[in-house]
Amino acid sequence: MRYYSRKLRSSLTLLLFSPLSTLAVSTPTTLFTLPGPVAPQSWFENLAVRPNGLILATRGDAAEIWQIDPSTGDGVLLVTVAGTYNLTGIAEVTPPASACSTHRSRRAIGQAKSCTPKETYVFGSSHIPAPLQVEPGSAKVWTLQFSEDNNTPTVSLLAALPNAGFINGIAAFGPGRDRVLLSDTQAEAVYLMDVRSGEYTTPLTSMAGINGIKSSPAQGSGRYYYLYWANHAAASLSLVPVDPTTAVAAGPAEVLAGNQSIDDFAIRVDESGKGKAYIAAQYENAVVEVTFGPAPSSGAGTTRLVAGNLSGTGYGFVSAVVFGRRKEDKGLLYAAVGQGGGSASVVVLDPSQ
Ligand SMILES: *[C@@H]1O[C@H](CO)[C@@H](O)[C@H](O)[C@H]1NC(C)=O
Ligand SMILES: *[C@@H]1O[C@H](CO)[C@@H](O)[C@H](O)[C@H]1NC(C)=O
Ligand SMILES: *[C@@H]1O[C@H](CO)[C@@H](O)[C@H](O)[C@H]1NC(C)=O
Repeated sequence: MRYYSRKLRSSLTLLLFSPLSTLAVSTPTTLFTLPGPVAPQSWFENLAVRPNGLILATRGDAAEIWQIDPSTGDGVLLVTVAGTYNLTGIAEVTPPASACSTHRSRRAIGQAKSCTPKETYVFGSSHIPAPLQVEPGSAKVWTLQFSEDNNTPTVSLLAALPNAGFINGIAAFGPGRDRVLLSDTQAEAVYLMDVRSGEYTTPLTSMAGINGIKSSPAQGSGRYYYLYWANHAAASLSLVPVDPTTAVAAGPAEVLAGNQSIDDFAIRVDESGKGKAYIAAQYENAVVEVTFGPAPSSGAGTTRLVAGNLSGTGYGFVSAVVFGRRKEDKGLLYAAVGQGGGSASVVVLDPSQ
C-alpha cells in the first residue's frame, strides 16, 4: 500500500542493492490511465481480474472501483462506495452457500436453474484523510457481487472493524474459498473473516510490516495452507504454513526474497509449492520476479527484474501486480502505477520477455 510505504522511502532506498539480472527486460505498455484532468495524487491500491478477464481496480484516493477491459484499454467507473473514503485490497471469493441453495430448491420444484454461484469479491476500505493519517476505527470490509447478467454489481457492507487498524491486503482462504485473510498493517496482524457473517478471528500477530498477502493450499499433504506475505518494512517476501481451518501458524516462516522493495504481488506455484512471485516493487517503479523451490524450506529464491520504468517517466510507485485470466493474456501481468507525474494507470507487461 502506497501510503504506508512513503515514510519508508529513505530506508528502502538503502536496501535497493539486490543484484538483479537485467537480461530480457520486458517493455511495459500503459493500458489505461484515469481520465479527466491529470491527478498526480491518484492511485490504485489493488487489482483483481474477473473470470471474464476484465480488471477491477480499487482507488486509494477515492471510494471507487474501476473496471478496465484489457482487450481495448477502456475503463469505466464501476461503483462508488457510499460511507467510506479510500479503498484497499480486493480478492475474489466463493459466495455464501445460501445463494446457491436457493437455486437448488427452485430446481427441486421444477423451475430449472443451475446452481451457479454469483461472482463475488471482498474489498477493504479506510479513511485516509491525508498521507500517513489513517482515521482510527475507520476500517471496513465490503462485498462486491455481480448479478447473473454479469454486469450489474451490488456493494454491501460485510463488517465494520472499529478495533482494527488499517486493512491492507486481502486473500481468499481455505478449501471453500468462503473466508478471507485480511492483513492489518497498523495492528501488525492477520484476521480470518467468514464471508457470510463478517465474524473474524486473529490467527496471526506480530506481523510487523505486513502488506500484500496471498494464500494457496500446500498440495499433497492437505494438512495446511501457505500464506505468502509481503513485509514492506523488512523489504521481504515470506511464506508461513498455516492451519487450513484456523489459519494459525503450523510451522516456521521462511523468506523467499529479501532486500526487495515490495507492496502487493502475484504468485504462481505448482503442486510442490515451487514457482514464481511477481512483486510490485514500490518506488523502484518496477516489477521483480522471484523464482523459488518447493516448500517448505527451499530458502530464498533468485530475483530478476521483469520490467522497470513502468510509469514511463523514470519515477513512480508500483502497488499491485496480477495475472491476466483470458486465454490470450494468462501469461501477462497487469500492474498498478501511481506517482509517475500523471494520473494512476494500469500497465501490461510480459514476464516471459
Ligand atoms: C482518501 O480519499 C479521499 C476522498 O475520498 C481523498 O480526499 C484523500 O486524498 C484520500 N487519501 C489519500 C492518501 O489518497
Ligand atoms: C540482504 O542483503 C544482505 C547484505 O548483502 C545479505 O547479507 C542478506 O543475506 C540478504 N538477505 C537476503 C534474504 O537475501
Ligand atoms: C522511461 O521511459 C520513457 C518512455 O519510454 C523514456 O522516455 C525515459 O527516458 C525512461 N526513463 C528512464 C529513467 O528509463
